[in-house]
Amino acid sequence: MTTAPASTAPLRAHAEQLIRGRRAIRAFRPDPVPQDVLRAVFSLAGAAPSNSNTQPWHAEVVSGAARDRLSADLLAAHAAEHRTPDFPYREDMYSDLHRKRRSAAGAAMYDALGIHRTDQAARAAYDAESLNFYGAPHVALLFLPATAEVRMAADIGMYSQTLLLALTAYGIASCPQGLLSFYADTVRGSLGVAEDRKLLLGVSFGYADPSAPVNGISIPRADLSETTRFSE
Ligand SMILES: Cc1cc2nc3c(=O)[nH]c(=O)nc-3n(C[C@H](O)[C@H](O)[C@H](O)COP(=O)(O)O)c2cc1C
Repeated sequence: MTTAPASTAPLRAHAEQLIRGRRAIRAFRPDPVPQDVLRAVFSLAGAAPSNSNTQPWHAEVVSGAARDRLSADLLAAHAAEHRTPDFPYREDMYSDLHRKRRSAAGAAMYDALGIHRTDQAARAAYDAESLNFYGAPHVALLFLPATAEVRMAADIGMYSQTLLLALTAYGIASCPQGLLSFYADTVRGSLGVAEDRKLLLGVSFGYADPSAPVNGISIPRADLSETTRFSE
C-alpha cells in the first residue's frame, strides 16, 4: 500500500481534525465573535477556488441590532407564510436513498431535542426557532448574482465549506441553513440588499453551547463505496 510522505503527517492530522471535527451546531452562547476574528475568518473563506477565479459569491455578515431585526423579520414572514425562494425547491429532486438519509439525520436531531417524530407542532416550532439562528449572535447570508445558473452553485459550495472550516479553525461553531434562503425577499428587505443578488444559503455562527444535547449528535456518512467509484 502506498502512503502519503511522512512530512504531510501533521497536515493530515489537522485536516482530519478540522474536516471531521466540524459539525452542524444548533445552540449557541450569546457572546459575539470579535470583529478582527470575523475579518480573518471571512478573508480565509475568500481563498476558496472558483471557476476562472470569478469569485461570484457575496457574503452579508450580520450581527447585533441588524441580526435581531433580521430574525424578527424572518419570524414575521414565517408567520405570514411569505416564502420567496430565489432558487425553487422541489421535493422530488431527492431519491428514496437521499430521503432515507435525511430522515435518519432528522431523527437524530429530534431525538436529542426530545421531540417525537410525529409531533408536527413541536417540529414546526423548532423550525421557527431556527429563524432566530438557533441563538447564534451572527449569521452570514451567501448570495449569487441574479444571472447565476446552476453551475455557480459549485462556486458558492466551495466558498461555503471553506467558510465553515475557517470558522472551525478559529473555534467558532456554525450551522448552514438552507431554510433561510426560502425568505429571500425578506432578507434583502431587512438588510437593504439589491434585487440583483440572489440568496442561496445562510450560515449561523458563534460559540457553541456545549451543554445543549442537540449539539452532542454526530451524523454518520455513507460508506465510501456508496458514493465513490475508483477506476483504472
Ligand atoms: C446546503 C445545506 C443546507 C442545510 N440546511 C439546514 C437547515 O436549514 N437547517 C438545519 O438545521 N441544518 C441545515 N443543514 C445542516 C445539515 O443538516 C447537516 O450538515 C447534515 O445533517 C450533516 O450533519 P453535520 O454537518 O453535523 O455533519 C444544511 C446543510 C447544508 C450543507
